[in-house]
Amino acid sequence: MRILTVTLGERSYPIYIGKDLLRSSEAWVRHIDATQVMIVTNETVAPLYLDAVVRQLRDKRVATVILPDGEEYKTIDSAMAVFDELLRWKFSRSAHLIALGGGVIGDLAGFAAACYQRGVPFLQIPTSLLAQVDSSVGGKTAVNHPRGKNMIGAFYQPKCVIADTATLDTLPDRELSAGLAEVIKYGLIRDPEFFDWMEEHMDALLRREPEALTYAIERSCRNKAEVVAADEREAGERATLNLGHTFGHAVETGMGYGRVLHGEAVAIGMCQAADLSRRLGWLSAADVDRIATLLKRARLPVAPPPSLSAERYLELMAVDKKNVEGQLRFILLERIGKATLPRPVDVGRLTATLEEYGRV
Ligand SMILES: NC(=O)c1ccc[n+]([C@@H]2O[C@H](COP(=O)([O-])OP(=O)(O)OC[C@H]3O[C@@H](n4cnc5c(N)ncnc54)[C@H](O)[C@@H]3O)[C@@H](O)[C@H]2O)c1
Ligand SMILES: [Zn+2]
Repeated sequence: MRILTVTLGERSYPIYIGKDLLRSSEAWVRHIDATQVMIVTNETVAPLYLDAVVRQLRDKRVATVILPDGEEYKTIDSAMAVFDELLRWKFSRSAHLIALGGGVIGDLAGFAAACYQRGVPFLQIPTSLLAQVDSSVGGKTAVNHPRGKNMIGAFYQPKCVIADTATLDTLPDRELSAGLAEVIKYGLIRDPEFFDWMEEHMDALLRREPEALTYAIERSCRNKAEVVAADEREAGERATLNLGHTFGHAVETGMGYGRVLHGEAVAIGMCQAADLSRRLGWLSAADVDRIATLLKRARLPVAPPPSLSAERYLELMAVDKKNVEGQLRFILLERIGKATLPRPVDVGRLTATLEEYGRV
């Protein structure tokens, strides 16, 4: 087992990474300092891993909420279902929540934990690659609003993160690829050697070779932990983790939640951000090509759905959280391995990317 730490003063916490961590309580159950525990999961993950987790909590009073599966259920209604159960069980402020599932469950259960009686402790047990490398770490929690992704939420850190790599054995191929989009993101924004490593090891990752996957998870988590420790509330560097997300969130909202996976939308968005960076004279055409090639090798889409017009994109991006007083701002790339902070972009270049990229 590997242990990384997210260093945030008294809110610091460990990330445990290893095989079969759910089958043994040693590493993580000591973080539950309560008898009342509620596990929030979904209909897909529950039959696979819920029993294993419950078995480690034999001496607790364990309640479970099993939500329907999908981004379209990352809603305030689902959070309300969690509150209903917490109240029905008369759980107090010392109760602990456990998020067992992908990023949707992690974001939603974290949000519910942040709100219930003004905040109860929670643990992240991410079971998708995307959740293990990104969403379970760093304390961003949220639900979607019909008008915008993650618009209702809170910064709220977990007590620990338990990434059991064995859970990835059951993850569908398309979801594995979606997780790889965020892994590639770390290489692009701040870790050029990791980008090189991925070019060498993409086939091993797709074959799910345990050593390659564990290395990618650990290096991704280390990158994320460093960024979060330096800038928990996104006053600066943390915004670079949003590379491709302004475009990507527009794709997710515009196509209807759940149609295009988050990781797929981010892959498309990173290509558009790369194209925009080329138009500003930072990346070469060869760099843009290298980025698209790696994403394609990860079996990710690199062009936006044709049904999304430039006009609709602009309308959707107008609700992005990085915007300041109505002005759109983008994370761009100075080079492969170095992202810029959010910056305004002139409308001509932006429209050129929206109209031309991937459509020709
Ligand atoms: N909080 C953050 O910092 C942050 C960062 C990145 C993404 N996100 C959010 O995360 C969400 C995407 O997360 P995701 O890609 O994990 O999607 P997801 O939660 O929908 O999970 C993907 C799919 O895989 C299934 N699944 C999960 N684990 C499985 C397993 N071990 N075996 C079989 N099936 C499994 C899920 O049920 C679902 O169908 C988005 O809502 C995104 O906004 C948040
Ligand atoms: Zn993301």
